[in-house]
This record gives sequence, C-alpha cells and structure tokens, in this order.
Amino acid sequence: MATITVTGGAGFLGSHLCERLLNEGHDVICVDNFFSGRKANIAHLIGNPAFELIRHDIVQPLYLECDRIYHLACPASPVAYQFNPIKTIKTSTVGMVNMLGLAKRCPARLLHTSTSEVYGDPDVHPQTEDYWGNVNPLGPRSCYDEGKRVAESLCMNYHLAHDVEVRIVRIFNTYGPRMAPDDGRVISNFILQALRSEPLTIYGDGTQTRSFCFVSDLIEGFLRMMEQNDDVGPVNLGNPVENTMLELAQAVIEVTGSKSKLIHEPLPKDDPRRRCPDISKARRLLNWEPQVDLKTGLHQTVEYYRTTLE
Ligand SMILES: NC(=O)c1ccc[n+]([C@@H]2O[C@H](COP(=O)([O-])OP(=O)(O)OC[C@H]3O[C@@H](n4cnc5c(N)ncnc54)[C@H](O)[C@@H]3O)[C@@H](O)[C@H]2O)c1
Repeated sequence: MATITVTGGAGFLGSHLCERLLNEGHDVICVDNFFSGRKANIAHLIGNPAFELIRHDIVQPLYLECDRIYHLACPASPVAYQFNPIKTIKTSTVGMVNMLGLAKRCPARLLHTSTSEVYGDPDVHPQTEDYWGNVNPLGPRSCYDEGKRVAESLCMNYHLAHDVEVRIVRIFNTYGPRMAPDDGRVISNFILQALRSEPLTIYGDGTQTRSFCFVSDLIEGFLRMMEQNDDVGPVNLGNPVENTMLELAQAVIEVTGSKSKLIHEPLPKDDPRRRCPDISKARRLLNWEPQVDLKTGLHQTVEYYRTTLE
C-alpha cells in the first residue's frame, strides 16, 4: 500500500479520488487551499486514520514524503478560474513547478490532470492527443488554457531533464455528485434550473456539442494511467458520446421531472462549437472506456443536488 498525495483533494474530482484511494487501502494526504474546494466534500473522510488533510496553497513549496502524487489543484470552472486570472496562472505554473520538485525529491510518480481546453476551439474532430490545439493566448479563457499548456510542458521537461516519472491525462467535461452548484458549468446550471422550475438557459442555438463523462469512470482512468508503465501521455479521458446542449437540457428535464422551459441567450466569447474526445489511446493503453451512460449519471447527480438543496 502506498502513501498518496492528492492536490486539490477537497474539490469535486479530488474528493472522489481520495475516497477511491482510501477504499483501496492507501494512505491519502489531501492538500487543498479551499479556493474552489469545500470542506463538505471531504467531511466524511475526516477521522479515517488513513486520511490526512493539509490546508496549503501549492504556489508555496510543499515538503512531505509520498510515493504518488495526483495533481489536481487548480480552479476548473470558468467562474472560479476567471475570479483571479493571475492566481490561476500562478497555480498552473508555479504550483506545477513546486509539485514536480516534490516528485523529484521524494521521488514520487506524478499524474497531472490537464484538460481538453488545451485543444482550444479545435479545427479537427474528434481531438486526438497529437493535435496541438487552437488556443487564443489573449482571450478570457487563456489564464486557464495557457496555464494548463505550460503545465504539460513543465511535466514533459522535468521528465526529460530529471527523469521524473510523470503521467498526463487530458480530461474532458466530467460531472457527478459534489460538482459545485454555482460554478456555471452546463450540467449544474441545467439541474439547478430544473429543480427550481426556472427556464434552462441555452447559449446560442443549442446545437453545439459537449461530451460528458461520469466521475467514477474518470477516476478509474486516473488509476489505470498512474499505474501503467508504458507511456507518460498525454492520454484523453472523456466520454466520446457527443450530446447537443438541447439534448442535454431535455435529458435533465426528463430525469428531474421538471416543467421548466428552454430560453436562448447569446454564445459567450471563445466558446468552442464542438468538443469530443478521441479515446482510442486510452482504450489501447489502459483498456479503459466510460461505463456509465448519461441518464444513469444524471440520476445520481440530481439526487446529490436534491439533498444538498433541501
Ligand atoms: N471537472 C472537469 O470536468 C475537468 C475537466 C478538465 C480538467 N479538469 C481538471 O481537474 C482538476 C480538478 O478539477 P475539479 O473539477 O475537481 O475542480 P475543483 O475546483 O472542484 O477542484 C480543484 C481543487 O483545487 C484546489 N485548489 C485550487 N488552487 C489551489 C492552490 N493554489 N493550492 C491548493 N489547492 C488549490 C481547490 O480549492 C479545489 O479543491 C483541475 O486541475 C481541473 O483543471 C477538470
């Protein structure tokens, strides 16, 4: 059994990852500055002798001993990462240097959670890992997108220059229980609007597509990527089933049983038209693909929101 650090462990994905690693019998050190994470996400883990929580900002160096580092710390929703764009860039760059320094010193293997946003507004579909992306370096999303691109470069250069064992995954939209309700992401927006009987807001005509991966599937992909010895990545992790925003809105209305109507608003700047992972590499390398379909995942997510809204 290993000692495993999870940065961003009090966040949406991090809390599920901590839980899964504890269930597998590991010692887990959760590191979080609670910028976008919440104590409620990990309250049920406090008291578990294998779980340790450190309030720490990764822009500052961190000294501890561990075998594995899952590096998730970074605000992920546009509302959160645009709140203080310079801080977001520092977290993605200075924070990444600090975590790679920690991995080098221990030594520990580090899995970095990159994002489909490194592809920007892609002009090839679906996106394979060898596509270099089409990112606006000056736009409102650039603090996040470019920060994540630098972070990948740092991982690769620490690997090449210092033999640090890195693994890079590029995550596509993921959803599930503990997604922050007010983070402006489309699934949480739709569910909350439906539960409050408010109209569901569709940006543009609603024909733009996204793919949605349920959180348990993604966490399984993290573990498989971390423990394989053949490839540093990057590897796309996401659900290749594309849904239009109109289809998603209808699914949410069905699962919640809501009587909400749909309203249309203008598309935000730099909003990609399509986003769909090519997961051939994950299938081949990790024997991984999503198992949870949209309706099943939505049911679990809606249940979570129902109980937290009560
Ligand atoms: N959820 C998705 O669909 C998705 C998609 C692509 C990439 N990702 C990546 O996965 C990771 C986790 O995303 P999430 O959805 O769980 O987001 P989240 O905002 O819920 O979690 C991020 C966590 O990192 C913590 N954090 C932020 N800055 C920090 C800092 N400087 N020091 C210490 N902790 C800090 C936050 O408090 C939070 O707990 C992020 O790196 C994100 O970029 C997520």
